[in-house]
Amino acid sequence: MRTVTFAFTGKGGVGKTSLSAALIRLLSERYPDKRILAVDADPAIGLATALDMKPPMTLDDVRLRIAASIDKGETADAIDLLSEAKFHLLDCIAERSNLSFLAIGRPEAAGCYCKVNAYLKQVLETISGNFDYVVIDGEAGIEQINRRVMENITYLVLVSDGSRKGIQVVSAIHHVAVNLVKWEKAGVIFNRIRSGFDPPATQEIPPVLAVIGDDDAQAQNDMQGQSVFSLPDDAPVLRGAAQALDALLQENGS
Ligand SMILES: Nc1ncnc2c1ncn2[C@@H]1O[C@H](COP(=O)(O)OP(=O)(O)O)[C@@H](O)[C@H]1O
Ligand SMILES: [Mg+2]
Repeated sequence: MRTVTFAFTGKGGVGKTSLSAALIRLLSERYPDKRILAVDADPAIGLATALDMKPPMTLDDVRLRIAASIDKGETADAIDLLSEAKFHLLDCIAERSNLSFLAIGRPEAAGCYCKVNAYLKQVLETISGNFDYVVIDGEAGIEQINRRVMENITYLVLVSDGSRKGIQVVSAIHHVAVNLVKWEKAGVIFNRIRSGFDPPATQEIPPVLAVIGDDDAQAQNDMQGQSVFSLPDDAPVLRGAAQALDALLQENGS
């Protein structure tokens, strides 16, 4: 089975979570027989609310629990540790119909963030193969690309608003990813775009997949803490995500 992985990256606040959630909804509706894994890889959190799915534990909770049992000398042997990690991993996954969801959580102590990223990388390597689609809502900025947390992905989806800064971040991530990450196709979604915006014609950024304007339904939905499943079918973020999905799947028929 081929696993198709989408990784959403970009500056903070540009719509990574909203668009990841929209894509997850589209995949789950279009492909009811396929298994989809949604991953909140952003310590700022948000995908759980957007999907209305809450696993009992986060990856960071599991990491801390295992670290604590090592400190206490409770699990001396590596095999025990491994089975404990696998056992707790089940508590990190919430499931609803063809959707599974896990979140890295919000590491609090300094230095923990790298550790949970390293753990996420291992977890993704271990379980991704059980799913047809994996959608990763990434942390803002470049760190997870730099650390190769997302090393082997099918589609790198860069999200920007119309600001110079948003486009610079997209260009910087793309530049770093070219050297560090394997992917088949990359593209940009411009989101929250006002009229009069012209996507920059530069070789610094990959092709534009969709341009999405202001979406009142999305803003309202988010304000009321509603999930992506309450959005009307014709909401601009859903339509934009569908356009991006079609553009990505077009050539290689995944
Ligand atoms: N096209 C849009 N129109 C209006 N509001 C949007 C749009 N896309 C996202 N938002 C809102 O902008 C805020 C930031 O979006 P979010 O998806 O959380 O960004 P990120 O995950 O990149 O930080 C949220 O309140 C979200 O509901
Ligand atoms: Mg987010």
